[in-house]
Amino acid sequence: MKLVDKYGRVLRDLRISITPRCNYHCVYCHPLGLETSDPPGTVTTGDVRHFLRAAAELGMEAVRFTGGEPLVRRELPEMIAAAAATPGVRDVAVTTNGSLFRRRHRELLDAGLRRVNISLDALDPEVFSRLTRGGDVARVWDAIELALELELHPVKLNAVVIGGVNDGEVVRLARLSVDRPLHVRFIEYMHLNNAPAAEYRRQFVPGAQTRARIEEQFGALAEVPTDPSSPARVWRIAGGQGTIGFINPVSEPFCANCTRLRLTSDRKIRPCLLTDLEFDIAPAFAAEDPVAALREALLFAAGRKPERGSTLPAMRERVMLRIGG
Ligand code: 5AD
Repeated sequence: MKLVDKYGRVLRDLRISITPRCNYHCVYCHPLGLETSDPPGTVTTGDVRHFLRAAAELGMEAVRFTGGEPLVRRELPEMIAAAAATPGVRDVAVTTNGSLFRRRHRELLDAGLRRVNISLDALDPEVFSRLTRGGDVARVWDAIELALELELHPVKLNAVVIGGVNDGEVVRLARLSVDRPLHVRFIEYMHLNNAPAAEYRRQFVPGAQTRARIEEQFGALAEVPTDPSSPARVWRIAGGQGTIGFINPVSEPFCANCTRLRLTSDRKIRPCLLTDLEFDIAPAFAAEDPVAALREALLFAAGRKPERGSTLPAMRERVMLRIGG
């Protein structure tokens, strides 16, 4: 059985946010004022196990753990192990800021983790610190080198480009894909942090502009064929070991190819990142047969996945930190 929405999209990719906490405070993700503990009702390992079983029975096959910062959650390894042990799940990944990866990599790998996406929005220590409100780029770079040493290929790096903040870093970031098998993906800034709309508009940089800047430096990029359902368009600098990708949800929305569904850390299904619609499924976790109840909840939410989200600046009910990247 498959999870097919009203528009014929087959939903295969699950993102599970496991905590609203993060030790970095990126400006694009949320305003200040942070969670310091996981509130009651935060998803548990048992919940994740049941949810994944239900989702996999409905044909979902790829799982990505996000947050907040998933590595601040003590139970992440058991959650990864639960995902790896779910029949039908063939890809288990984590999106992380990298700061705790050195400390925790052994237990994560032992649990079955084989892939990481690391957020890296700048190489310049000051720009990085400003963007993350205090983060240490050396620690993140150490995590990236470790991921390469551990051969967690493909090692993908996410960079959200923000005008006047880190747009001066894009050439340096792109260059990382030349000498190492790193896959740098430039992501358009979405208005998910409740910044003032005028400020958001001023800071938004279209992916085409980022690409032009990179081509100015390295010459024409060669397109690398990708799965048409992937949101990233991928290119290579001549002779590069890695690639450069552009994810342009604002200037080139890919809703028609969207195969995703999210579970937020407070146990709501969010079928579209860019629509505030959410379904509170806490009762399904408490049902006598949670897997059956969660299957129903998934079918219900999938049937209501919006055809497209809105990329217009708008005050959101929830900021990205609380939804999950
Ligand atoms: N716009 C675009 N991407 C975002 N992310 C978080 N907030 C935003 C935003 N406002 C993505 C980034 C980050 C991941 C955790 O979530 O890719 O690396």
